Amino acid sequence: MEKLDDIVQEALAQFAGINDPVELEQVKARYLGKAGTLTELQKTLGRIPAAERPAMGVKFNAAKVQLEAALASRRETIQRKKLESQLAQEALDVTLPGRGIGSGGLHPVTRTLERIEALFHSLGFEVADGPEIETDFYNFTALNQPENHPARSMHDTFYLEDGKHLLRTHTSPIQIRYMEKHRPPLRIIAPGRVYRVDSDATHSPMFHQVEGLWIDESVSFSDLKGVIAEFLRRFFERDDLKVRFRPSFFPFTEPSAEIDMSFGDGWLEIGGCGMVHPNVLKNVNIDSEQFQGFAFGLGPDRLTMLRYGVNDLRLFFENDLRFLKQFN
Ligand code: FA5
Repeated sequence: MEKLDDIVQEALAQFAGINDPVELEQVKARYLGKAGTLTELQKTLGRIPAAERPAMGVKFNAAKVQLEAALASRRETIQRKKLESQLAQEALDVTLPGRGIGSGGLHPVTRTLERIEALFHSLGFEVADGPEIETDFYNFTALNQPENHPARSMHDTFYLEDGKHLLRTHTSPIQIRYMEKHRPPLRIIAPGRVYRVDSDATHSPMFHQVEGLWIDESVSFSDLKGVIAEFLRRFFERDDLKVRFRPSFFPFTEPSAEIDMSFGDGWLEIGGCGMVHPNVLKNVNIDSEQFQGFAFGLGPDRLTMLRYGVNDLRLFFENDLRFLKQFN
């Protein structure tokens, strides 16, 4: 029965080369299945002499046991290899250093706003707030800004599609909103974002302002100058600051001035200010015979430029972390 040995050797060689469990079972069937080569050969046992049959029977059984054992070990090998490759793929190197959590920081303009709030708080000012989407009434009309004022032009202001609302162009509407609800004496600052169709090294289309308002029975222009000068000295921590008040015009103040600070070879305008116009007080039913006061609107983005020596304001809003990280 040389044929039996050949079949066994062939089957063993085949099993050894298989790496897929399904394929292994298919190959098994080719030898040990109902029509398998080994099974077919066993069927011919009946034809050999009766005396040799028992010995051959034993050989066949031994061959079957050998093949089953080889199959079992191959199955185990295939499974182990699969597990090993899976473990290798999903390996976790617990000795790797962690990625770390980047620590956040405050935006330089936020730092300026916090500093401004703290300094004015120490001068007795409270903080008020108002919406960034405003009506024409609060942004212009109530501030004594007539219908044909150039700031109302489509070129200077972002209007909403409904035609009724706009992105506030300054924080001054908060003066009106606050005075509608509170009676003098009042002393507030109001920080917030404002929007204009502007863009160059000292103008951004979105920027910040801090409004200030102090109304009482005898607040004067010299109080205004004193408060602003004191604030700037404390903000920049310098007594020798060069600040000037330049006569100017705002419809909602009279007289009005721009506040400039020395910047390089020249001056940088950091805010507007003035004595609140009697028409504004009239619009919120405050008796302008009894009360008067001043208002101002500072540009904290520009104060940030001056404080840190940055010469282009747009850098603050490009969100380049290499730039912003320097301030933390
Ligand atoms: C006003 O907006 C007035 N509402 C200020 C005011 C309030 C006057 C109360 C009187 C009483 P002005 O347009 O000048 O004024 O802006 C005030 C400050 O905002 C400027 O001095 C400047 O520092 C800053 N600013 C104006 N436009 C921009 C801009 N595009 N980007 C950055 N800062 C700006």
